[in-house]
Amino acid sequence: MAINIILLGPPGAGKGTQARRLIEERGLVQLSTGDMLREARSSGTEMGQRVAEVMDRGELVTDDIVIGLIREKLGQGGEGFIFDGFPRTLPQADALQALMAEIGQRIDAVIEMRVDDAALVSRISGRFTCGNCGEVYHDVTKPTKRPGVCDVCGSADLRRRADDNEESLRTRLMEYYKKTSPLIGYYHCKGNLTPVDGLAEIDEVAAEIAGVLDRVRDRGFSPA
Ligand code: AP5
Ligand code: MG
Repeated sequence: MAINIILLGPPGAGKGTQARRLIEERGLVQLSTGDMLREARSSGTEMGQRVAEVMDRGELVTDDIVIGLIREKLGQGGEGFIFDGFPRTLPQADALQALMAEIGQRIDAVIEMRVDDAALVSRISGRFTCGNCGEVYHDVTKPTKRPGVCDVCGSADLRRRADDNEESLRTRLMEYYKKTSPLIGYYHCKGNLTPVDGLAEIDEVAAEIAGVLDRVRDRGFSPA
């Protein structure tokens, strides 16, 4: 049974970190609109350039663009999808529901990762990522074992994101509270929202998410 989940949370909540664990442990496919948009910006196209300016300011890219990116990828789900950073607005949530219905699937769980603003600032300011394999690190909470070298693939291409500065983070947080946090009520009403304590250790958050997925799987196999 395919399981499709949404990781919902503010910038720095740990969506990407947990998505990578779920790929490895459950064979789910990660659909991160942030990663797709970063790929588009590095393509050097006119669209990529426009997207880069919006992202660097910390604002949201238009719904049409991100919905189009997700639509292109929905044919490729093996064990299911992890939507990371999508949807981020109510129109995106409605579009996702329609797209899932088109492929005969649905969203099984929405995991709301709760982290307070002070922790987000220190997480974002200490984050770096492997440019080769995408592994996410932190100067203090998750440093590489050998300085300057990715633990997973051995690459020395460790990068910091252009939007990980105080000014864009302030805008990203504001965008989250104004446009994305209404999705908490939206999915609560639909009955598939589960909050997790995103302030806990990475392994503990992963265990909480695993528990949610196990309950979804067991529910799927039990007689209705
Ligand atoms: P996106 O790339 O999605 O960024 P974001 O939502 O701001 O979230 P982040 O990637 O910054 O954080 P994360 O939750 O993945 O945390 P991570 O695991 O890295 O979007 C970027 C931009 O693209 C947007 O601003 C917008 O412009 C555009 N965009 C994207 N999607 C869009 C959409 N749908 N619509 C419109 N525009 C869109 O962790 C952060 C750090 O914390 C790491 O260093 C990590 O090691 C550390 N950490 C993680 N978990 C823990 C823990 N439990 N304890 C301690 N440290 C931890
Ligand atoms: Mg991320």
